[in-house]
Amino acid sequence: RPDVLETLVSLAKRRGFIFQSSEIYGGTGSVWDYGPLGVELKNNVKARWWNAMVRERDDVEGLDAAILMHPKVWEASGHVSGFSDPLVDCKACKARFRADKLADAQCPRKPSKKPGEHTDCQLTEPRQFNLMFKTFMGPVEDSAAVVYLRPETAQGIFVNFLNVQQATRQKVPFGIAQIGKAFRNEITPGNFTFRTREFEQMEMQFFVEPGTDMEHFERWKQARLDWHLALGLDRDRLEFHQHGEKELAHYARAAFDINFDFGGSLGFQEIEGVHNRSDFDLTQHQQFSTKKLEYVDQAANKRYVPYVIETSVGADRVTLAIMVNALREEAVPGEQEGRTVMGFHPALAPIKAGVFPLTKKDGQPEMAERLAAALRKKFNVFYDEAGAIGRRYRRQDEAGTPFGITIDGDSTANNDVTIRFRDNMGQIRVGADKVVEVIAKYLEA
Ligand code: GAP
Repeated sequence: RPDVLETLVSLAKRRGFIFQSSEIYGGTGSVWDYGPLGVELKNNVKARWWNAMVRERDDVEGLDAAILMHPKVWEASGHVSGFSDPLVDCKACKARFRADKLADAQCPRKPSKKPGEHTDCQLTEPRQFNLMFKTFMGPVEDSAAVVYLRPETAQGIFVNFLNVQQATRQKVPFGIAQIGKAFRNEITPGNFTFRTREFEQMEMQFFVEPGTDMEHFERWKQARLDWHLALGLDRDRLEFHQHGEKELAHYARAAFDINFDFGGSLGFQEIEGVHNRSDFDLTQHQQFSTKKLEYVDQAANKRYVPYVIETSVGADRVTLAIMVNALREEAVPGEQEGRTVMGFHPALAPIKAGVFPLTKKDGQPEMAERLAAALRKKFNVFYDEAGAIGRRYRRQDEAGTPFGITIDGDSTANNDVTIRFRDNMGQIRVGADKVVEVIAKYLEA
């Protein structure tokens, strides 16, 4: 598949999806800001996830845990000792590489060579580099005051397992879900928002009785793939990747990634992980906190530390996948200039409808503004009366707006309008008072 990332980066900036963080200062390394269209798109993705994982289920509860946690959490979780990458430096040019990824890296002075292959390259011995960001809590900057920015949201769920279970009186099996920021001081970030130092995760921990874990694991694997398909990601761009023995994280008993084909040299890459974490985390937190984290099954008269099936998806990474999947440049029959379309699923589109009076006279703008105001109560609408109608359509095609509503000379007389569909540019005529209903039907699909 072609590499569309470069086209996407420039479209994202031009149209206000994504900007580089602190751009006027030259940018912050691998940190990005979402502009007016981007924040709507990402919010829609998060809302879809929250609805599917929390609201539409009675066996998953929501949570919003804090980013800053007790430092012992990260000792118990294994992140202080184990969340690190092996790093090598080039003594000659000071470039830094992951020791286990040298085969994929380029020497900055001679990009056709790998680091270490160029005669002037002098690589240091690998050393472990912890990916957690450290900061200090309180006024004293010493080792006793160190706290970490969380590198995953999952631990906020584990330490609240009993709080949530007791407050909601849920019975195992049940889950806890949350959406929140995570931070990793990645050594080799890049590829736009694919790997960044600040990102958002949407994670769900499903607590199950030991022995039933693999059955739940298989169910969640399928449910999560189905969720991506329902967002409109193409089936042939998605695949499962099973972790081999050596790839498994320190906590995982079994793990599958859901990979998406980003095209170009990036190709298939992980967008979500589904993990069987066994009782690793709860057992570790029991030991480090000395508090029991057992589930008491009164009906069966037994108590145990549950196993955990985790689904973990990056909100930014899946949003990037959605943008890559949606972007197309195509010829327009009968026109010299082609068009760029962001073919988002209507439910994800940042703007649902553009409202356009054909001319600025004969009561058309007034009728269009009245219609736009009525539609705004239901969804995000963009009103535009400036310039040729073709250009106005093209701008909304690029923003991914699925419906264009045009008010023309007949509209004021007959109280009807034209709805133009972004994807096939087909048009239908409907009564002005039916527009909300017609569009709502497409959004639900
Ligand atoms: N709690 C398990 C966990 O954090 P992970 O595989 O390290 O597992 C899960 O991360 C997901 O979070 C990934 O599939 C990816 O979508 C997202 N993610 C991880 N690191 C990221 C980064 N540096 N930038 C953007 N997204 C990231």
